Amino acid sequence: MSESVSCPDHVDVLVIGAGPGGYVAAIRASQLGRSVAVVDENEPGGVCLHSGCIPSKALISAAKTYELFVNSKHNKMGIAAQSVSIDYAQVQQWKHGIIQKLKNGVEGLLSGNQVTYVKGRAQFKSGNEVRIDDGNRSKIVKFEHCIVAAGSRPVELQGFAFGNRIVSSKEILQLKEIPQSLAIIGAGYIGVELGQTFAKFGTKVTLLEYAPHILPTFESELASIVEKKMKKNGMQIITGASAKAAYEAEGGVTLTYTHSGEEKKMDADYLFVAVGRKPNTDPLSLEAADVQVDQKGFIDVDRQGRTSNPRIFAIGDVVKGPALAHKASYEGKVAAEAIAGHPSAVDYKAIPSVIFSDPEIATIGLSEKEAVEQDYKVKTGKFSYAANGRALSLHAGEGFVKVIAEANTGFIIGAQIVGIEAANLIAEIGLAIEMGSTLEDIAATIHAHPSLGEIVMEASEAGMGKGVHSL
Ligand code: NAI
Repeated sequence: MSESVSCPDHVDVLVIGAGPGGYVAAIRASQLGRSVAVVDENEPGGVCLHSGCIPSKALISAAKTYELFVNSKHNKMGIAAQSVSIDYAQVQQWKHGIIQKLKNGVEGLLSGNQVTYVKGRAQFKSGNEVRIDDGNRSKIVKFEHCIVAAGSRPVELQGFAFGNRIVSSKEILQLKEIPQSLAIIGAGYIGVELGQTFAKFGTKVTLLEYAPHILPTFESELASIVEKKMKKNGMQIITGASAKAAYEAEGGVTLTYTHSGEEKKMDADYLFVAVGRKPNTDPLSLEAADVQVDQKGFIDVDRQGRTSNPRIFAIGDVVKGPALAHKASYEGKVAAEAIAGHPSAVDYKAIPSVIFSDPEIATIGLSEKEAVEQDYKVKTGKFSYAANGRALSLHAGEGFVKVIAEANTGFIIGAQIVGIEAANLIAEIGLAIEMGSTLEDIAATIHAHPSLGEIVMEASEAGMGKGVHSL
């Protein structure tokens, strides 16, 4: 192999992975005066942009639009579509256009910030060297500091090897056709978001979940509202089910699972396995750089993202915590600033978690149960979408906002939202937690009328026992 991968021989900061963790870290490191290269075997943007957050949101939005037309004959607005059609190839093309636009944006930001983007696969050679291999050529690059932002990949269950008909979240987003039937293992973030999407497109969807209810890491009062909607969309949900094996056949797949002690069988066009993600740390030869990982492959880091090798930092899905793009970006900025000698450190008290389900779920900080378990004395305030004028005029009166506060001081410590635009509404609570705000701070803030934001204000007033629009 010739030594000619296009990267300087030596950089101040080498970032491995150009996803929302890595490219953000690279830009911040460059803003702070470091020479920076970011290496990725794929195009910049990572899983989030190419086969995760962005394409899934595009399909969710397309499915919602289709459902709106299909259901128009049942609505009371007086607007009904006479006929509706889907050109799925066009849906995919539209989705691809969004990805391309954002990818071009990331490339422009990297070059505009003088970050060298290197296409290739990185592997540690020593504590300050990485070998970059682009398939034809390779090169050893020396670094002062390195930020590992290599991300994660879907877990492949034993007995469910990914293939043509047994697919992961990457392939399901790229199908050329809308399946007639789809079996999904795992009713977590991905299974719920994409299960609802295909159900809206008209696919017969069956969801198998090991736990007693869908979205087991979320409180059942949130999950049950989404579950109700899923059933209304004709989805079959089998909880307490354990998938055993699957066999691909021409044009479909057969799945066996156990439920209530009985072994059962099911056929579907595709089987989509969405049972979590695992860190991409195994191919990096981290041992050559003295970087310690735990038994599950996550890299051990301190609050600045520093690993057991003080030159090397790690962020995003390769470290513990939720596998969320915004967490990775946040950690990336902290690591870049720490490398530049700033006193930055992570504080996870207000990471929003959002499921782009129908309706959306968004949580932040502590739930009431978690707060009580942590010996907080709490008070809560709840307000329903059904009593908000804007929600009703949007034809979206289901859901609620619940705000959790410390009882004596009123300091806001968490919130849970289920309902339309939950993903956007949670931002106000995130700011409130970051700013050390109280229920009164939100209640006394003038919110536009009529707007969904008023639901957050009303929930805060209710928490103070002063709700005007609730009894
Ligand atoms: P997940 O951890 O959210 O859900 C996996 C589900 O599979 C769990 O409910 C689990 O009980 C179930 N399960 C596991 N093994 C099973 C088996 N053998 N049989 C039946 N059920 C089984 O994982 P998911 O949905 O794959 O998502 C991975 C991660 O990606 C999420 O944790 C999240 O961090 C991230 N993500 C975030 C999104 C967002 O921010 N909106 C959207 C999609 C993914």
